[in-house]
Amino acid sequence: MMLTEEIHNFGSKTVVLDPDNTCPCTHVADEFICASFDDYAALKELCQKSDVVTYEFENVKSHFLIDLEAKYNIKQGIRPLFDSQDRLREKENAKKHGLKTARFFSCQSRADLDQAVKELGYPCIYKTRTLGYDGHGQVILYSDKDKDTVEPYLNVEGIVEEFIDFDLEVSVIMVRDGDKTIVFPIGKNIHKNGILDLSIVPTKLSRDLENRLKEASVRFMESADYRGILCIEYFVKNSDFYFNEMAPRPHNSGHYTIEGCTTNQYRELVKFLLGVSLEEPKLKSPTVMKNILGQDLWMVPKFEKPNALKTDQDLYVHMYSKKETRPLRKMGHVTMTNMTEEEYKEFYERKICVADK
Ligand SMILES: Nc1ncnc2c1ncn2[C@@H]1O[C@H](COP(=O)(O)OP(=O)(O)O)[C@@H](O)[C@H]1O
Ligand SMILES: [Mg+2]
Repeated sequence: MMLTEEIHNFGSKTVVLDPDNTCPCTHVADEFICASFDDYAALKELCQKSDVVTYEFENVKSHFLIDLEAKYNIKQGIRPLFDSQDRLREKENAKKHGLKTARFFSCQSRADLDQAVKELGYPCIYKTRTLGYDGHGQVILYSDKDKDTVEPYLNVEGIVEEFIDFDLEVSVIMVRDGDKTIVFPIGKNIHKNGILDLSIVPTKLSRDLENRLKEASVRFMESADYRGILCIEYFVKNSDFYFNEMAPRPHNSGHYTIEGCTTNQYRELVKFLLGVSLEEPKLKSPTVMKNILGQDLWMVPKFEKPNALKTDQDLYVHMYSKKETRPLRKMGHVTMTNMTEEEYKEFYERKICVADK
């Protein structure tokens, strides 16, 4: 939805494919194809109708796209999509292109699990290789008895990873067009139950560490020869950082860029797609983004009445018009500019996220 809105700002039109005919994009797309992501004929129709095609979702079967990529303008290519669809391939690829990861082992049986635990010790973390998101398909193992919790997953391919007792998690979002690579200000991510809760920008990392994160990310993107947008999530511990995962699409941790930066992740992706030259983003002010999940909807009216909060902060409420509300489902987000982490904590704890008695 947000990408489509930005495309309209450039005077272009959109055709969108999604299996859900009530999805947020139906409100804004010029044309909508309601079809499953593995409906080859529908994907082909989308390509035929479009001058340029992109993806906003990682689990489009990439083998379908091989044939389409040869004939149509899927400008980011399918390689970053393919590499991000499988945690084992993703981490091996990150290492190959110079990024450090937590140690990991492929796991498809109880014997593999036993061996991985022997190598890594406790705690360690089991993840399914494909289709995981927002912490789904993951088990943290603290002792032998947690192996039984992993057992039901062992009929699908998985990995077991070293548990990184990180200081913080960050995202680096880049757009590369082949001439240049732009990098958005690095944000700190705070997760709650495996789901992004807050992005806080700037981080309090040293300038040296931020520069090393940016340089390593740009080198990775250039070495892998990806084009378009890429978000990399890292764990930071002391002065080291570990690649965790990547997404070749606009990312939730980049929602803050809409109001927080001089240009945003959607706008730069659109410029890449349309062949307009990219612009280096700058942070306008300290910014905090909070996700609104299904169970958080009661907070929204409090955000919508900033005067009642008696703050000078700039508040921007984005609701996605999703038809069905479910707990843990991302329903919208709120961006607060001119807001530091400390101010937010004060604001959040005292005024917004505490239910009235
Ligand atoms: N190896 C690890 N060590 C410590 N924490 C981890 C590790 N892997 C994942 N986590 C925690 O779980 C969250 C979700 O894991 P992630 O691999 O990003 O999967 P997804 O976001 O696809 O569900 C991470 O943001 C992090 O907080
Ligand atoms: Mg993640």
